[in-house]
Amino acid sequence: MATLFLFILLQLVVLQLPTVSDGEVLTIPMRKARSVVNRSQNLNRVPLSPTTEEPSTENNLRGKPGQGYYIELSMGAPPQSVNVLVDTGSSNFAVASAPHPFIARYFNTDKSSTYINSGIAVDVPYTQGRWDGYLGTDLVALSAISNVTARVNIASITKSENFFINGSNWEGILGLAYDEIARPDSSLTPFFDSYASQTAIDDIFTLQLCGSTDKVDSSELGGTMTVGGLDDTLYSGEVFYTSIIKEWYYEIIIVDIEVDDISLNLDCKEYNFDKTIVDSGTTNFRVPVKVFDALVHAIDDATPVEVSPEFYTGTELMCWSDDTTPWEHFPSVKISLLAEDSSQSFKLLISPKQYMRKVDDGTSEADDCYKFAITTSSSGSVIGAVIMEGFYVIFDRHNKRIGFAASTCAEREATYVTPQVMGPYPHNNSTGCAYEVPESNETTLMAVAYAMASICAICMLPLLVMLFQCYRKGSKEKKYGCDSENLVHQ
Ligand SMILES: *[C@@H]1O[C@H](CO)[C@@H](O)[C@H](O)[C@H]1NC(C)=O
Ligand SMILES: *[C@@H]1O[C@H](CO)[C@@H](O)[C@H](O)[C@H]1NC(C)=O
Ligand SMILES: *[C@@H]1O[C@H](CO)[C@@H](O)[C@H](O)[C@H]1NC(C)=O
Repeated sequence: MATLFLFILLQLVVLQLPTVSDGEVLTIPMRKARSVVNRSQNLNRVPLSPTTEEPSTENNLRGKPGQGYYIELSMGAPPQSVNVLVDTGSSNFAVASAPHPFIARYFNTDKSSTYINSGIAVDVPYTQGRWDGYLGTDLVALSAISNVTARVNIASITKSENFFINGSNWEGILGLAYDEIARPDSSLTPFFDSYASQTAIDDIFTLQLCGSTDKVDSSELGGTMTVGGLDDTLYSGEVFYTSIIKEWYYEIIIVDIEVDDISLNLDCKEYNFDKTIVDSGTTNFRVPVKVFDALVHAIDDATPVEVSPEFYTGTELMCWSDDTTPWEHFPSVKISLLAEDSSQSFKLLISPKQYMRKVDDGTSEADDCYKFAITTSSSGSVIGAVIMEGFYVIFDRHNKRIGFAASTCAEREATYVTPQVMGPYPHNNSTGCAYEVPESNETTLMAVAYAMASICAICMLPLLVMLFQCYRKGSKEKKYGCDSENLVHQ
């Protein structure tokens, strides 16, 4: 009985960790910030409503390095403004509805005449934090884009631990993925589904994440979100599309990864083990362990710079004195994605500036310090913010596909390698690269599992203890804990 209990406990611990690490916000790069370009061109897209005066949408995303991109919303009547993280890796719209020492404002449901409380409790645990709240609906406008409102589901956060970040300037999270991963279950219609259908816009949103690039002010991230269509001023060249193979996260397929034109040459299923998602709420480019090892090996082989193993594992920074970073000595990386026409692929050209993210080491002002932005994942590959920052990314939900194009802001900031999208290339692998869930006979598996549990219970005890210690350590040392990088979401 004790063995069984231990086994179940162990399973809980083991199963719990990967689940919570799927989404996660951001330990985004401490990069130098960009200046805000105030262009006043009208967007080349269908206006939401002919009578609405639309504010300029350009640069409607903001953020602090390390804390994600947020957008302003207005909620209820009379309207209350809040900032919410833009997160394509989760599906709940959740906003603080009570004061918290780390936030300046919150959504006061009592003061909105249009708020409807459904009385249903909801909670979302993360690797290192959680929030509790209750569900309701209200009229919400993406006020940074348009005044048009839609009635959407809102999770009002009443209680949280390690969720809000002091000084981050956001008070909630806007999960833009599909209902399958919504909490408490998939019957809760996500924000964008409600918004697109009620405002009658095309079921599309786009993100141009620009990072922080201005040499003068390193404190802000900038970017632009559009809804209902593309903004032609935000990209150049052709848009290449990859299919969303399953609508839960934004799941797509990587067919190859190259370092300086040389393929890692892995079985292409390894790149998507057990999925590949596009997630603005994750900082890094996360890859399965096997891919990580091959990638680090290839990058290390290609650079004449002596790099310590600790840099690759993320526990050490590399620094050069101001403006002397030898970018030209680091290889480019290419991520090949399956094209919509699955007999073709296209490549995202990634510059070293994307996989080595600038951080503020807090000590040497004159130095440029970097952290390796490729990290391991036990829950599949994640095309996170460092990759997205090179491109204009189109979430074409209507056509079940994601588009990538060269981003105008990445072009402005390029040194040595400009991120670009190249293709099409022939892709002739009829067996496919998607991970297939192995067919299993559950009863047999359970029997095997229980047998193993009794055999291994004793040798697993130290592991449990280690896990526990690691967990405790993680809560204190966010940056280098067991499941670091995962500040926020599910
Ligand atoms: C839209 O919002 C702007 C402020 O952002 C305001 O000046 C304008 O009156 C609003 N338009 C409508 C139709 O409510
Ligand atoms: C939040 O940060 C500011 C400035 O860094 C500091 O003055 C303030 O005490 C912090 N608030 C809390 C509640 O820790
Ligand atoms: C095609 O994909 C399969 C499954 O991932 C892999 O085993 C095989 O090596 C691939 N073939 C080529 C030519 O890439």
